[in-house]
Amino acid sequence: MSLASREEILEKTGHVVAVRNVSFDVRVGETFVVMGLSGSGKSTLIRCISRLIEPTDGRVVIDGEDVTAMDEKQLRRLRRQKMSMVFQHFGLFPHRRIIDNVAYGLEVQRVDKSVRRARAREVLRLVGLEGWENHYPGELSGGMQQRVGIARALAVDPKILLFDEPFSALDPLIRREMQDELINLQKIMHKTILFITHDFLEALKLGDRIAIMKDGEIVQMGTSEQVVMNPVNDYVREFTRDVPRSRVLTAKSIMQTTLVVTETDSLATALSMMPGEESAVAFVQGENGRFLGMFTREQARNLAVTHTDVKSLVRACPTVSPDTTLADLISFVATTNTPVPVVDGDRKLVGSVDRVSVMMALGGDVDTGYGPAPKLGENGRTGEPSGLASDQPSK
Ligand SMILES: Nc1ncnc2c1ncn2[C@@H]1O[C@H](COP(=O)(O)OP(=O)(O)OP(=O)(O)O)[C@@H](O)[C@H]1O
Ligand SMILES: [Mg+2]
Repeated sequence: MSLASREEILEKTGHVVAVRNVSFDVRVGETFVVMGLSGSGKSTLIRCISRLIEPTDGRVVIDGEDVTAMDEKQLRRLRRQKMSMVFQHFGLFPHRRIIDNVAYGLEVQRVDKSVRRARAREVLRLVGLEGWENHYPGELSGGMQQRVGIARALAVDPKILLFDEPFSALDPLIRREMQDELINLQKIMHKTILFITHDFLEALKLGDRIAIMKDGEIVQMGTSEQVVMNPVNDYVREFTRDVPRSRVLTAKSIMQTTLVVTETDSLATALSMMPGEESAVAFVQGENGRFLGMFTREQARNLAVTHTDVKSLVRACPTVSPDTTLADLISFVATTNTPVPVVDGDRKLVGSVDRVSVMMALGGDVDTGYGPAPKLGENGRTGEPSGLASDQPSK
């Protein structure tokens, strides 16, 4: 069934469709970013989640509880204890001191003055505003006021933080600083964050996953890498155009499968598995599956007289992680002619990258597994990328 367009609905009913057909899950501890141009429905969406705006249809479920079915009292408890919102225009009380702005959520909860002030001091320290407790909002810069807004949200120790374009009013340098601080805070806090922005680069930087909205609908949802590498339409593609690929693409999207031998294999077996060129390499893992190192066919040939097993031949070598960006891979592949092993958190070999694949990816000619595969025939490369399209947050 095709839906009537927003224009048709406006004409027929006089109602603006602000959000429709939107469905997504935010995982515990994840930073989920909703990005879209002005008027695309972002604020309406985030306000529906706390029911500051009543959705006309659909459900919002938090921790298994149906928010859309809550009565006033339950809703108040949810808003006071479980989630906090940070707004674009700070929304501080001008006639309250910073400390009492921050303690406000606790005051509403009727927490003792000394307790709530102690907690307010603690979160002010966390956002770098120690010493400003007794000032008034008007005496602080925009960036500092937004820190107060964040401190106020954190004071009640909510599980969920909702941010509606919190950094949009800040100038670019302060904005970047605030983004970095949010990333650092999140490393300590592990909150579940829903973050709204109209800035695509901000979305890429902060989001474990990103949803892109247009005219009230989500047009694409995925990790930064998925969105940048495989925009679903021109609307998304336009955002991705100026994105530095080297900072978004990672080893896992360009790596190839490689030959792995086990340390207990005989050299003869290993050699029989390796391609013919002298520069061919074999990566070696221990019997426990952990990566040990590598050797080239040339090295194997030279030593085959005195060495008969793989174990005595293997040499340790630098490794990279699946999340290493192209920008960081460059220095690895620049210093060696051999492929660089990609090793996961358990020291298990998951693939390899070499100079050619990094250069091709930087140039835009890459099989990321996110789109149709370009031909890589010339150098005989047939390895497939693996470990793609992970659903797990990558940060
Ligand atoms: N109270 C309202 N009454 C009528 N229409 C509204 C109201 N609030 C929002 N809208 C309309 O709903 C649509 C979505 O608005 P919304 O504020 O959610 O967008 P947004 O993505 O947050 O934009 P911005 O980036 O400018 O904040 C817009 O077309 C807007 O005109
Ligand atoms: Mg908005």
